Amino acid sequence: MESCAIGIIGMAVMGQNFALNIARKGFRVAVFNRTPKRTQEFYQTRVKGEPIRPTYDLSEFVRALERPRKVLLMVKAGEAVDEFIKALFPFLEKGDLIIDGGNSFFRDTDRRLKEVESQKLLFLGMGISGGEYGALYGPSLMPGGHKEGYELVQDILEKAAAQVDDGPCCTYLGPGSCGHFVKMVHNGIEYAFMEAIAEIYDLLRKVFGLQAEAIAEIFSTFNALPHLNSYLVEITEKVLRYRDSEAGEPLVDLILDAAEQKGTGKWTAQVALDLGIPTPTITHSVVARSLSSFKNERTRIAQYLSSPSKTLSWSPDLLIPLADALYLAELAAFSEGFHLLCEASQAFNYNLNLPEIARIWKGGCILRALLLERIQKALLTDDVFPLFATQEFRRDVEEKLPALRKVCTLGMEYGVPLPALSSALAYFDSWRSASLPANLIQAQRDYFGAHTYRRIDKEGVFHTEWGVNGL
Ligand SMILES: NC(=O)c1ccc[n+]([C@@H]2O[C@H](COP(=O)([O-])OP(=O)(O)OC[C@H]3O[C@@H](n4cnc5c(N)ncnc54)[C@H](OP(=O)(O)O)[C@@H]3O)[C@@H](O)[C@H]2O)c1
Repeated sequence: MESCAIGIIGMAVMGQNFALNIARKGFRVAVFNRTPKRTQEFYQTRVKGEPIRPTYDLSEFVRALERPRKVLLMVKAGEAVDEFIKALFPFLEKGDLIIDGGNSFFRDTDRRLKEVESQKLLFLGMGISGGEYGALYGPSLMPGGHKEGYELVQDILEKAAAQVDDGPCCTYLGPGSCGHFVKMVHNGIEYAFMEAIAEIYDLLRKVFGLQAEAIAEIFSTFNALPHLNSYLVEITEKVLRYRDSEAGEPLVDLILDAAEQKGTGKWTAQVALDLGIPTPTITHSVVARSLSSFKNERTRIAQYLSSPSKTLSWSPDLLIPLADALYLAELAAFSEGFHLLCEASQAFNYNLNLPEIARIWKGGCILRALLLERIQKALLTDDVFPLFATQEFRRDVEEKLPALRKVCTLGMEYGVPLPALSSALAYFDSWRSASLPANLIQAQRDYFGAHTYRRIDKEGVFHTEWGVNGL
């Protein structure tokens, strides 16, 4: 029997779709899953002549692969990845490649890379974006790790990836765990953009009393604007239009308002804090999801701490300010994300090519947006950080900041929480402040802890005995 170009372990939604995608590009694919029934069902129900070979034990799976073997893990992040790596060791030989295509924590990837290296095998940690549809029709792929490993699968990955005008949405990103790091930051930006969209929706329903269908119209208008045209805005319209056939109501109105998370947003915020990079829009979007999960407590507190109950009548004049506010929140999230990538590139020796990252996010991925074309251009021509301060974007910020301020004011006045939008506003306001009140903070630190301070009128480090009754 002809051997397979690649093997995929993990036949859940991502593994199945990616296997079909690769097979449809003409590569033979061996597949395996811990629970054999899943492989069997997949093969019986979804494989329609594609060159896919189902296997039911690891030894059969590895024997089906051509040498050097290429094994892609598409299993749940965490223990499952370690278990499969360990289980594969006895079957693989020098020069074979393991790819982890899940949403693994980048520090786990660094550890696994060493473990795999110790067996003289190659390893790639690869972020995949685009959900099940992307996996099937062309995702954005973010591989990092051993370059020789990438060369073994370059043809397969670049053909399976989404294609944009300037190439496949896949490129070798660099050494170590950088592929998973980039995917993690991608998800952090995704959290922020999703939260900002949700906040605009919340304003529209609570302040203006609009129903889902009317809000869908507004998002449809947003998606027609070049600065907002994006996958996430597009699916928001579709979600808002969807009616539950049983209840006869918009499904979104029936969904429990408690957002779940798998960790990538939280890791982005944690690493940003560790590296000292300000990412308030991303971080507050993670906080917003955590707070939403306290549904019972919120319901109890709402009984005695009521919101302002007044409403406004909707005016189409507000469309553009709302669109501009959303755009600036998106731009803040991208600025924060690329700032973090830039810092991590140096701190972890990833040597990242930032314009290439913007390029491979232009197609297939959840973040795809027309805006990425301009981000790529800005990163190619200007290395000023943050991104919003580049020549490409600074005029937009100047022009649209009043709209963001107006929308945030509306939320404050009407008691609608806007953690992402207001964090974005504070982010822009902080960066454009030549003077911040950190002088007072330095004085306070010196007062209670003799931490010293520097002065603007002379060189040196100073300490003051601030008060007779000082602590
Ligand atoms: N879903 C998405 O939209 C998406 C997008 C991008 C990236 N990802 C990432 O891609 C990976 C796969 O995602 P998914 O949604 O397809 O699947 P998933 O629900 O994250 O994981 C299910 C798969 O993992 C296997 N598995 C779970 N625990 C295991 C264990 N202890 N030992 C061995 N196998 C184990 C399952 O095998 P059994 O069938 O035997 O239980 C199944 O094949 C994840 O890391 C996910 O975060 C997902």
